[in-house]
Amino acid sequence: MNRVEGRVKVTGLATYAAEYPVEAVAYAYPVQSLVAKGRIAGVHDAAAREMPGVLAVLSCEDPPRLAEDADAELALFQSRDVAYRGQIVAAVVAGTYENARAAAAAVRVEYDPDDHDVALRSGHPGFYRPDVVNPDYPADTVKGDVEAGLDVAAASVDVTYSTPVLHNNPMEPHAALAVWDPEGRLLVYDSTQGTSPDRDTIARTLGLPREDVRVVSRHVGGGFGSKGSTRPHAVLAALAARAAGRPVKVALTRHQMFDVTGYRTPTIQRLRLGADAGGRLTAVEHVAYEQSSTLIEFAEQTATPARVMYATPALRTAHRLVRLDVATPSWMRAPGECPGMYALESAMDELACALGMDPVELRVVNDADAEPEGGLPFSSRNLVMCLREGARRFGWRHRDPEPGVRREGEWLVGTGVAASTYPARRRPASAFAFVRDGDYVIQVAAADIGTGARTALVRIAADALGVPPGQVHVELGDSDLPEAPVAGGSMGTASWGSAVVRACEELKRGDGKEGRADTTGEVGNDARLARHAFGAQFAEVRVSSVTGEIRVPRLLGVFAAGRIVDPELARSQFIGGMTMGLGMALMEETLTDEEFGGFLRRDLAQYHVPACADVPHVEAVWLDEQDGELNPMGSKGIGEIGIVGTAAAIGNAVHHATGHRLRDLPMTPVKIL
Ligand code: MOS
Repeated sequence: MNRVEGRVKVTGLATYAAEYPVEAVAYAYPVQSLVAKGRIAGVHDAAAREMPGVLAVLSCEDPPRLAEDADAELALFQSRDVAYRGQIVAAVVAGTYENARAAAAAVRVEYDPDDHDVALRSGHPGFYRPDVVNPDYPADTVKGDVEAGLDVAAASVDVTYSTPVLHNNPMEPHAALAVWDPEGRLLVYDSTQGTSPDRDTIARTLGLPREDVRVVSRHVGGGFGSKGSTRPHAVLAALAARAAGRPVKVALTRHQMFDVTGYRTPTIQRLRLGADAGGRLTAVEHVAYEQSSTLIEFAEQTATPARVMYATPALRTAHRLVRLDVATPSWMRAPGECPGMYALESAMDELACALGMDPVELRVVNDADAEPEGGLPFSSRNLVMCLREGARRFGWRHRDPEPGVRREGEWLVGTGVAASTYPARRRPASAFAFVRDGDYVIQVAAADIGTGARTALVRIAADALGVPPGQVHVELGDSDLPEAPVAGGSMGTASWGSAVVRACEELKRGDGKEGRADTTGEVGNDARLARHAFGAQFAEVRVSSVTGEIRVPRLLGVFAAGRIVDPELARSQFIGGMTMGLGMALMEETLTDEEFGGFLRRDLAQYHVPACADVPHVEAVWLDEQDGELNPMGSKGIGEIGIVGTAAAIGNAVHHATGHRLRDLPMTPVKIL
């Protein structure tokens, strides 16, 4: 079955947020702070107001009304304080985009700057322990005695890794189009991963009842987390439309996205692992250092995968945060698990080397039959089968463990392995199923961010109804549809699908004409088991001894993620995640400008992501995993696990190829030579 929206996408008929045809539309263009910290002394906009087509200028000089408790990243123009370079401090509304941009350039903002601090560094005096980390885990956990475990270890490692600021770069830049009706109701076409939560946040920020706000987002060109929470462009569109008395469009440029749509926090991670002579872990300690802004505490759950992965008598995990003069970090594909597993799985490889043990076998002997930290039994856990199947397909048993000895001309060749994991969660959702003209219509405020969610839901509904997929039509991407959670945390299909199945069952149970469902009660019962997807990643690398260039001729991922709803969509999610992991390993990095604040390399010419030529052979396969303890589909999320572990597998292969251990991502040629 092809993607149900494939034809409208490839023919250009699919409408994205910035493209809705609206009468008398105007445009808002933001003015961004040029200092990283300070106070706005004055906004001089007289010249801008005289420029052609200008309808309004927004700033803290005459602040538009917003709710007192608005999220600090969304409370536009409410304060004279500047929290980071690039923050939106004013905006110009004009009849054309070009006039708005030109007038925005003519707004002069006067600052009283303060000294700023934008650099995450080890030993920063500002580090503190947050109360919880995302989404709501304890910041620190301790089980057993780590020091005692390290004392008795036959081999141990004490290693520190770092990962840089990373930016989500969806193909479709963030955009919003706001339209107020004469009764004061607001319609926002927004590029968002969830119309229901976006509607709620916009309503709360503007101080409106949520019934008076509607968000429409039928097609989204990727998000990777950056569209998972409401971003300032949507609030700006609403405020600007109110000020101008016309519909207003805000379409961010790629440069602006780097400043105001979130990023992955940089991390510094210290791992201490010990094992006995047989490779069984005697201690695991994972301490993650990361940043947030002065506006909001965003505490990424970087050390949490260590609470899930391996059996050990002594386990300590901890998170330390420092509040810097930077934009607030946000969600980026597998927040927490992705950088955390990079460090843990690299350290496991170092431990295998220290023990003289095969890294696949090291992971196998430390497999856990219950969650190591909390002791909950797993609903299913097939990490060992993923490792075994991956090793078989990859040809692992022919591997010579000696590092730095395989040479083909200028190229050093090596292979590496790492494990993957991601939680399998779901959230309450609601759905409506009914008959229209002899076909079945499914309504749910789900989001299709390029993943193929519509198609997956057609399959799920067709299965539940026992009808051909061609007879099912899914309507999503509109907050007026039955309420649904965000496309995030790899929870979309599990959450929406559960509601869709229940609505279809209601339809069949009743008069055959309609059925409604809300899974709030059902989802509340999920807490007695640990539910996670697992995987194993294998990489082959070739490292040029002349240029330091790293090529990755082969990547293989084997995943155990419950029942796979749609093989084509799943493959695309897995290999997309793995490709993004390759980018993290070798290319992606946003530099922080320590002198002026803000970020450097704010476009795709300098922020490098992998292109097709960089990934000649990425293969993803999966086990046929049966798990009756998940949801009606038996599925685990697949959107994020593909990126987890990939960078470690590549880094471990680079060590195998060269004999050198690079502990600071990305592994660029300059670090190799
Ligand atoms: Mo994803 S980073 O959970 O939107």
